[in-house]
Amino acid sequence: MPAVPVPHERPRRLRTTPALRRLVAQTRPQPADLVLPVFVRDGIDEPRPVGSMPGVLQHTPDSLVAAAHEAVTAGVGGIMVFGVPRDEDKDAAGTAGTDPDGVLNRALRRLRDELGDDTVLMSDLCLDEFTDHGHCGVLDGRGRVDNDATLARYAEMAVVQAAAGAHVVAPSGMMDGQVRVVREALDAAGHQDVAVLAYTAKYASACYGPFREAVGSTLRGDRTTYQQDPANRTEALRELRLDLAEGADMVMVKPALPYLDVLSDVAEASDVPVAAYQVSGEYSMIEAAAAQGWVDRDRMVLESLTSVRRAGAQLVLTYYAVHAARLLSQGAG
Ligand code: PBG
Repeated sequence: MPAVPVPHERPRRLRTTPALRRLVAQTRPQPADLVLPVFVRDGIDEPRPVGSMPGVLQHTPDSLVAAAHEAVTAGVGGIMVFGVPRDEDKDAAGTAGTDPDGVLNRALRRLRDELGDDTVLMSDLCLDEFTDHGHCGVLDGRGRVDNDATLARYAEMAVVQAAAGAHVVAPSGMMDGQVRVVREALDAAGHQDVAVLAYTAKYASACYGPFREAVGSTLRGDRTTYQQDPANRTEALRELRLDLAEGADMVMVKPALPYLDVLSDVAEASDVPVAAYQVSGEYSMIEAAAAQGWVDRDRMVLESLTSVRRAGAQLVLTYYAVHAARLLSQGAG
């Protein structure tokens, strides 16, 4: 009797040495694939830690610039900026989000001045950080998020962010038609070169919990009337079809790890680059388990990013971007 039924079939042969494993590795995240989400908060003198996201800060303008330089030096591909206004600057329409001197737009101008085209400067295009009710849009008389009235606000926001220096704007509010109005507004204002990264399949997820602390969100209730139901898979392809038809330059699936099936579907059907967002709760889960010594942080970070890339994401937004880029540059992964 032979030791194995098909003696020439020994998959373990290619796992024998680190050099062989490296040679045949099919998926290899690169620093340039990673995008670092950052928070800039108005009215603080020192950066503030986000308690539920160990290692993540709400930045001052100065510390934000330093963090951006650090990311560029580490080889990270881009930066996604979120603004955190003062509570007293929040209102029902999210006016601080479209104010050219609001915290986010000031930060974009400063970053573009400092970094020029050395990195890809991306801007979150949503109202939730700026509204006093915490929803991603404006409300109608009955307290529901008004899709079309919100679109007008997004159009205005896109133009202000482009004028402030964003290379890419990223509408994340899941309003129907948001990509189209943003594209049209940018073009009409002469910003044909500013790209749109559409949050295409964004699920109403518990994984955003720590982010709400990071942006000081005042939301009561939930976003289930505009974000997707975690139960649904096919709907992501409908959202993709619409976003592509409306002119999205890149599309995104969010969260990442719990939605690899969706990511795989979207990657297969998309002819534009696909991003995935490893969101705050995914980060915090790894941090919490690593802090207990229950998992190895660096291995978890690299394995999760590799899995997200393997499922089809070309770009990954992750709070680990700088850390992972350094690990990868040292040859890990
Ligand atoms: C909404 C927005 C959210 C996140 C990014 N953009 C929060 C939400 O939809 O409730 C979450 C990101 C994260 O959890 O890391 N503008």
